[in-house]
Amino acid sequence: MNKKTIKDVELDGKTVLVRADYNVPLKDGVITDDYRIEKSIPTLKYLLERNCKVIVCSHLGRPSGPDDKSNSLEPVAVRLNQLLEQEVRFSTSCVGEHSRKLINDLPNGAVLLLENLRFHPEEEANDDDFAKQLAEGIELFVQDGFGVVHRAHTSTEAITHHLESVAGLLVEAEVTAITDVIEAPERPLFALIGGAKITDKIDMLHRFIDIADVVAVGGAMANTFLLAEGIEVGKSLAEPDEVPLAKEILSKARAKAKDSNFVFYVPQDGVVSRTIDSAGPTRIVDWGTHAVAEIESYPQFPSKESSTVGDDERILDIGPFSGAFIAGAMQLSNTVIWNGAMGVTEVEGLQSKVGPFSHGTELVVEAMLGQFGHKPRTVVGGGDTVGYIENQKLVDQFAHVSTGGGASMELMSGKALPGVEALADN
Ligand code: 3PG
Repeated sequence: MNKKTIKDVELDGKTVLVRADYNVPLKDGVITDDYRIEKSIPTLKYLLERNCKVIVCSHLGRPSGPDDKSNSLEPVAVRLNQLLEQEVRFSTSCVGEHSRKLINDLPNGAVLLLENLRFHPEEEANDDDFAKQLAEGIELFVQDGFGVVHRAHTSTEAITHHLESVAGLLVEAEVTAITDVIEAPERPLFALIGGAKITDKIDMLHRFIDIADVVAVGGAMANTFLLAEGIEVGKSLAEPDEVPLAKEILSKARAKAKDSNFVFYVPQDGVVSRTIDSAGPTRIVDWGTHAVAEIESYPQFPSKESSTVGDDERILDIGPFSGAFIAGAMQLSNTVIWNGAMGVTEVEGLQSKVGPFSHGTELVVEAMLGQFGHKPRTVVGGGDTVGYIENQKLVDQFAHVSTGGGASMELMSGKALPGVEALADN
């Protein structure tokens, strides 16, 4: 990385403000996924071992104002305390008299977590005056909230005009892992892109068509590509208004495939159902073979029903042929970048831990993890994908699992990250 990190500066005994991303899911005040908190620990320990006074700030959610206590960071202080195995003090404000006193009273080698930055609208406004207040009494700023560095906010941008600013270990690891895989992957490079909307992934799709050897799409996003190909998707989640965009991407992909070994793969079959729950009946619809079946000699001529999604049905997962194609192609790839589930993985199974619409995702994960013999180096973009592999306790088996959703997508798309750009050059 071409930016200074905490390893490049004098730290001993300094008062340091760390920007973390503790935007974690909470249910009734309980943290349901602490991956981002866990990943912030190495930087905090590194600073504590150097006798720093460690003040940590973050946002949580999109609060309506300072009274929106459902977005308080207090539960995070409790979790940090457990993970660090030391007391973590908590300030009910991030600026002003109260927090200033707590910062002044903080001994060396101790941690103070400040309340949600977004309780102040100035945070998202990238306000210079708010930055000055945050910088008061601080000697060094450490950016370690990778999940938020795609935002130009006070705690990612304006603050860097008032303090020497360097990257933490998490930001360094994320930027290095994602940049390496994009700039110098061991080929073949396979990009698997799922999730709900084409519009969210458009820049990434363009970039991967440019740089990858295979691009496959899955999840609800694939339905818009199916619409663009004239395939009926019934009541499936899709973006009919984005069909022209899907057509544009398909024609770019086709043009590349014409003159190279490049493959752009849209699922040829899916698991469909009338209801999104474990009890409802499901069936496999194979619209791809239908096209092949127009060749008279094809042995298993499918019925219209088995190759058409009904008007009242939804595609909720990729089908077995598509799963096998993707898993098989991964066996021939040395690097995989994965962003977005193949189906509705949130629905749990009745008897097994694998839900009825998780089989496609499960199969491609097995392929990434070398269950079929070859284990490609896999980098996982953040967001919902991480929640899924965390639930399966598989995070440690991937080369890199990003803590950032939007930030990892923007970095993969080749965009500059304001929160990283603003740090001191090395
Ligand atoms: C995230 O969860 O993607 C980051 O914390 C950024 O949050 P935001 O989308 O509310 O800015």
